[in-house]
Formats: sequence, structure tokens, C-alpha cells
Amino acid sequence: MKIRILPSLLAADLGRLGEEIARAAASGADGLHLDIMDGHFVPNLSFAPATAALCAKLLPEGIELNTHLMMTNPHKYAGRFVEAGSDTVQFHLEVRDTVNVRALVAELEAHKARVGLAINPETPVEVAFPYLDCADEVLCMTVHPGYGGQAFIAEVLPKIRAIRERAPALDIMVDGGVNGETAVLAAEAGANAFVAGSYLFAQPDMAAAVAEMRASCEAAFARAWGK
Ligand code: DX5
Ligand code: ZN
Repeated sequence: MKIRILPSLLAADLGRLGEEIARAAASGADGLHLDIMDGHFVPNLSFAPATAALCAKLLPEGIELNTHLMMTNPHKYAGRFVEAGSDTVQFHLEVRDTVNVRALVAELEAHKARVGLAINPETPVEVAFPYLDCADEVLCMTVHPGYGGQAFIAEVLPKIRAIRERAPALDIMVDGGVNGETAVLAAEAGANAFVAGSYLFAQPDMAAAVAEMRASCEAAFARAWGK
């Protein structure tokens, strides 16, 4: 299973946004994670399609732009984030009563975007089971979405394990409170993609931290799940 490491731009120095995007791109990371908050699904606001376009312009070919829509109405904006250059668009299954999940997945696929389906820490894992066949990745939030710098919620680990047992080849991503230690716990539970904001952007040598996280997650995943 390929291990993916993605710094989250939310923790970057916003006064030097271009340089920070370039620092993440040069770190050996697989992609850049971009958090979009609507002030409604979460009580905070963050970036916009223009930021996605800036990231897409500055990221070299082969470095994924992974856009996480924490929005009540992802269907109204998903297309704009694809047009802005997102390779993957993730939206939350908590909106499934008001948003047609399969229709939005189909729309994203028609635009050649990868699709991620996200669940919050308190959302039962069973909510994701019916959709495992139609997503490229499942994002298990390991903090309550809305803010960077929170502590990893270890109660999410059994949910990761339950998804991995049902979907051996699916990309399973964790986001929130991920650092050198918690990433290993998540990899043992079955995660293979790791978003880290405050931890990676605080590193004077981001490349070394990415390499170390990759090596320890590869070893932990292989120990627990085989290759
Ligand atoms: C939280 C966001 C995360 C955030 C993670 O709502 O979805 O992507 O950037 O930040 P850290 O790694 O600092 O917990
Ligand atoms: Zn995120």
C-alpha cells in the first residue's frame, strides 16, 4: 500500500504563502492538503477557490492538490475547486441527508477528480460502509474539524481498522493531530495517508520530518497489514 504524506496549508505562515507552498512541494510530500471551511458546517472560515488556484499554479506536476471541503453545500462549490486545479476533492458524509452523495461523486469523476468521503470523529463508521465502493479515499477526521493544532482523538482508531478490514485496497486518510507518534498509531490501524498541519509546518527541516513519517508509517502498516 502506498503511504502518502500531505502537509496541511492551514498551518502555513500566511504572510509567506507562496514560499510555504513551495516548501511543502519540495519536502518529498505526496501532496498538499487544502482545508475549505464555510463558517456553517464548521464554525470557522479558511480558504477559497482562488487559494486552490494559487496552489495548483505553484505545485509541480505529480504533487497532488487534495482539497477538503468542510461545507454544508459541497455540491455548490466542488466544481469550482476542480476547475481551480484540485486533483482530489473530499466532502463530508454528515451532509448525506441533504446532498446526493452518489450524484456528487459521479460529477467529480466526470471532471476526472479523485473523490474522498470524510467522516467526523463522532460519526459512526457504518455511515461510510455503503460508499466504500464509490470513493477513491475515505478521510477519517481525528479531531473535530474547524481548527488546526488540536489533539489526536485515539477513539477513531477502531473506525479506521473497521474500514481497512472491509476495503483492503482503499486509501484511508487521517487528518487532525497527526504527528510522528500518532501517525504510527493510525498506520497500525490501517491508515495509509496522513495529513499533518501544525506538526510538519513547524519543522525547520520539513523534508526530514516527511521522510521519517513515511518510513515509520511504512513499517507500521507493513507490520500490521502486510505490504
Ligand atoms: C482541521 C483540518 C485539518 C487541519 C489539521 O479541521 O481539516 O486539515 O489542518 O491540522 P493539525 O495537523 O494541526 O491538527
Ligand atoms: Zn483537513
